[in-house]
Amino acid sequence: MEANEAKEKIEALRAQAEEHARRYYDEDAPTISDFEYDRLLRELLDLENAFPQFITPDSPTRRVGGRPSDKFAPVRHEVPLESLTDVFSTEELLAFGERIAEALPGDRQFDVEPKIDGLSIAVEYRGGVFWRGATRGDGQTGEDVTENLRTIRSLPRKLDNAPERLIVRGEVFMAKDTFAALNREREIRGEPLLANPRNAAAGSLRQLDPAVAAERRLDLIVYNIQLASRDYASHAETLEDLKAMGFPKVIPYRLYGSVAECVERIAWIGEHRDEFEYEMDGAVIKLNSLAQRQALGSTAKAPRWAVAYKYPPEKKPSRVLDIVAQVGRTGVLTPKAVVEPIRLAGTTVSNATLHNQDFIDKLDIRVGDTVWVQKAGEIIPEVVEVDRARRPEGTEPYRLPAVCPECGSPVVRDPDGAAMRCTGAECPAQQLRAITHFASRDGMDIDGLGPAAVEGLVNAGLISTAADLYYLEAQSVAALERMGKKSAENLIAAIERSKSQGMARLLSAFGIRQVGAAAARTLARRFPNIGALEEASFFELTEIPDVGPVTAQYLADWFASPQSQHQLRLLREAGVSFDSREEIADTRFAGKTFVLTGTLARHTRDEAKALIERFGGKASGSVSKKTDYVVAGEAAGSKLTKAQSLGIPVLSEEEFEAMLE
Ligand code: IVH
Repeated sequence: MEANEAKEKIEALRAQAEEHARRYYDEDAPTISDFEYDRLLRELLDLENAFPQFITPDSPTRRVGGRPSDKFAPVRHEVPLESLTDVFSTEELLAFGERIAEALPGDRQFDVEPKIDGLSIAVEYRGGVFWRGATRGDGQTGEDVTENLRTIRSLPRKLDNAPERLIVRGEVFMAKDTFAALNREREIRGEPLLANPRNAAAGSLRQLDPAVAAERRLDLIVYNIQLASRDYASHAETLEDLKAMGFPKVIPYRLYGSVAECVERIAWIGEHRDEFEYEMDGAVIKLNSLAQRQALGSTAKAPRWAVAYKYPPEKKPSRVLDIVAQVGRTGVLTPKAVVEPIRLAGTTVSNATLHNQDFIDKLDIRVGDTVWVQKAGEIIPEVVEVDRARRPEGTEPYRLPAVCPECGSPVVRDPDGAAMRCTGAECPAQQLRAITHFASRDGMDIDGLGPAAVEGLVNAGLISTAADLYYLEAQSVAALERMGKKSAENLIAAIERSKSQGMARLLSAFGIRQVGAAAARTLARRFPNIGALEEASFFELTEIPDVGPVTAQYLADWFASPQSQHQLRLLREAGVSFDSREEIADTRFAGKTFVLTGTLARHTRDEAKALIERFGGKASGSVSKKTDYVVAGEAAGSKLTKAQSLGIPVLSEEEFEAMLE
């Protein structure tokens, strides 16, 4: 590869790695599997090694983990929390063994441990009492998560016969069973599902509220003494001492005389991954003697005396029995392969996503095919490959249906993407979507009413529109499967509270096209309530900054529909507030009534009326004692005479304009 080309490639890989690292560490929401991420870093590292002139100190290959966030107090690690070098094959592993043999002739011992896919932390004990705990952060500085760590049962508060000073490194993880149960609960409450136990653990540990962290039932397994006022000769000795001090979960380890002898154990752990309570993404091979470790030292990023052997994500073949199109809550049709059940990464898999039509076309996946199904630490298994050699006779390419399987409406492709979407307004999937949107953060912000909860209520026949929410009774909600009295009462209370959200949220909750949260707020600043908005003329609406004729038309259409009117009536009767809680932008005409008469030179009647209303005033058609001003143009007639007789101030067009300045 030419230097130029390498430079470009390095920069592209770095940008990708940065982005994925940010998603992983800062947002706890990765979009690629850890295996893919490690591969990416490895490719970058190999290129940097071949072209060292392009290495920069801030390259992701030189850094460890994520930046500490500013939610928690920073903790400077007395002994840095180093990372590990990854190896992806037996050859690479043996090369590690050879490097060590060259540097350290003589006897050596290695230990093999599972590599737990959790969150690395350091816990400090003073006088045998738990004193402080911090996340790894960037390896030098982490976050103080002491209070959250206190909620972990496998973290002893007090140790037996501990050295005066002790810092132990370990992995906080969420057991696979706990993770599955947590996601089931989240589904019921309608909260987004967590991608994998690692993210669940990271998210839980970084909860600001320890009570929430406690509910998450995290676990801790320890695997290294970072610092101790006690002498040890080997790693195995430290692990035994940790057990003796009372750590209930110390990393399981086995010792071998050479790296070559470790291979079998590594393979065994890989094959039995399912049986461990935690997720693992590899095995760690470490030199046992602490003196030898010291002699080898570390590179900028990782110790020379250990490596992580990464297992590829588990993949198994199965047969496609059927392909079905599922209509999601947003109306998108997602093709799913129904496969012969297989055991994969600890669960039975009988469905695997095929993503979209483009993906099916690319792999040419057909009913009857033998496919490879993969679960890369994520919750949804996916088809990753087709075994063409095993395709039976007479199969046909698969196409998503042209009409929605739920409601029969036409399905159209999104203009800017691969998604195929149902167009039916009455589609049950779309109705679910409308109610979910109503309750969402952009709408009425009803706690605990996410997609799954809405689906439960609709399926049980308790609601069919958003307005029905306000007529729910705790008793019937509590009778729903997996709901319970307490959650039902909480839900009803949240719905009740939402009644006073006010016009802006309510308007945004309706999901009128083009009227999102921002436009809804603009409208709520302009009109005192939903009723006033409904009565506004088309021209008045288009006069409002950011509301064009298209939005004005959508608003008009929405108010004109009988369904909307029915919904509005139900909401009003339930006591939902239609009033604006926004500050009305400029209220100089508030409480003032204007009457327009004659022909104005620079404004039509409608325009002048809109201007009066924009500033909070009212435009009326006839003059009475309640009229505050009459604006008189050319050829004004009886209204002008009446105003004069009642002594009401009469304004010329110029005077009226001056009031608007
Ligand atoms: S030893 C200096 N042992 O893997 C040695 N790490 O990729 C430090 N991990 O940040 C690590 N299980 O969070 C070690 N048995 C184990 C481990 C382990 C999981 C994590 C740890 C580290 C990451 C490195």
